[in-house]
Amino acid sequence: MSGADRSSAAAAPSARPIRRVMSGIRVSGRLHIGHFWGTLRNWLELQEKYQCFFGAMDWHGFTTAYKVPGEMHAWTRETIAECLAIGLDPNRSTIFVQSMVPEHLELFLILANLTPKGWLERVPTWKDSEEENKANDTYNLGRFAYPVLQAADIAIYRGDGVPVGQDQVAHLELTREIIRRLNNLYKLKIPEPQALLTDTPLVAGLDGRKMSKSYNNTLFLIEESEKSLRKKVNSMVTDPARIRREDVGEPTKCSVYGYHKLYSTTEDLAWVESGCRSAGIGCGDCKGRLTENIEKKMAEPRIKKQELLKPGSDLDKILQQGAEKARSEAQITLQEVRKGMKWL
Ligand code: TRP
Ligand code: SF4
Repeated sequence: MSGADRSSAAAAPSARPIRRVMSGIRVSGRLHIGHFWGTLRNWLELQEKYQCFFGAMDWHGFTTAYKVPGEMHAWTRETIAECLAIGLDPNRSTIFVQSMVPEHLELFLILANLTPKGWLERVPTWKDSEEENKANDTYNLGRFAYPVLQAADIAIYRGDGVPVGQDQVAHLELTREIIRRLNNLYKLKIPEPQALLTDTPLVAGLDGRKMSKSYNNTLFLIEESEKSLRKKVNSMVTDPARIRREDVGEPTKCSVYGYHKLYSTTEDLAWVESGCRSAGIGCGDCKGRLTENIEKKMAEPRIKKQELLKPGSDLDKILQQGAEKARSEAQITLQEVRKGMKWL
């Protein structure tokens, strides 16, 4: 998938230079195009410029999806296969599965002890989802400690740049506070990571609401087939004013147009705009063109993904090598921390 031309991962103008980028994606099911436009597209760009550590964060996924055995394992393999299929390059970056790097957990436990409970109680994602967590049996210690694990993820690689959307800047501030405390207590020099502000366009779901697995309105990062893609695009809600073919419409009120802006050429965009406003095209034509344009970007990754998920493929070797690379960096940090704690 492309779109790097529209991306804009950038450090704040006054910030010191970034040496190492660290980022993760929580494993919570199948990846959808929201993950691409919000996260993966930035990773593709960052891997060209920096030394990067990118993780499939399955322990983070487990904070809410701990009930069904086997689910997390399958999702995680598929997540990595898809990341590779769209062009993340394990020769350039360290691409790893969090649970294959147990060092995260040791550092997590150290950090958990020096994080006051009040810091976590103030985290908006915890505060605002109390009822939801209680209803879903996720009002739990692991879920509460989520930001501490995230701080450990970053600190363990001594990452100094973390790509985040504007809404995540406050979260990163907590990571910085935890690392500052660690450094002060044990006289360490683990970098306090800076936010690399990335542009994260909101991708609407097929029904126009926020794209979310729980709404069942997602378009997968890699749909099974052109047929499943077509079916989903055809199910999208359109401008409610266009009831009959002869009614004129307004593209800016339609999520199909929103998707065209992400996947179509300027010529196709002009065709949609004028065709919709003059009733020169029907919504079926418009969706057909969109399907073609998305399929152009999904076809190749689909084949690569299928190859990687075949038994006997290179996937296990890539996972193993990624874990080894990640662990050797993580062990350096842990050694330093243990030395600072005088607990070797
Ligand atoms: N919390 C992030 C998300 O919801 C995932 C994540 C886990 C992460 N560990 C991280 C992101 C470390 C950046 C750095 O997607
Ligand atoms: Fe939406 Fe396209 Fe129909 Fe206009 S023609 S309402 S943009 S689907």
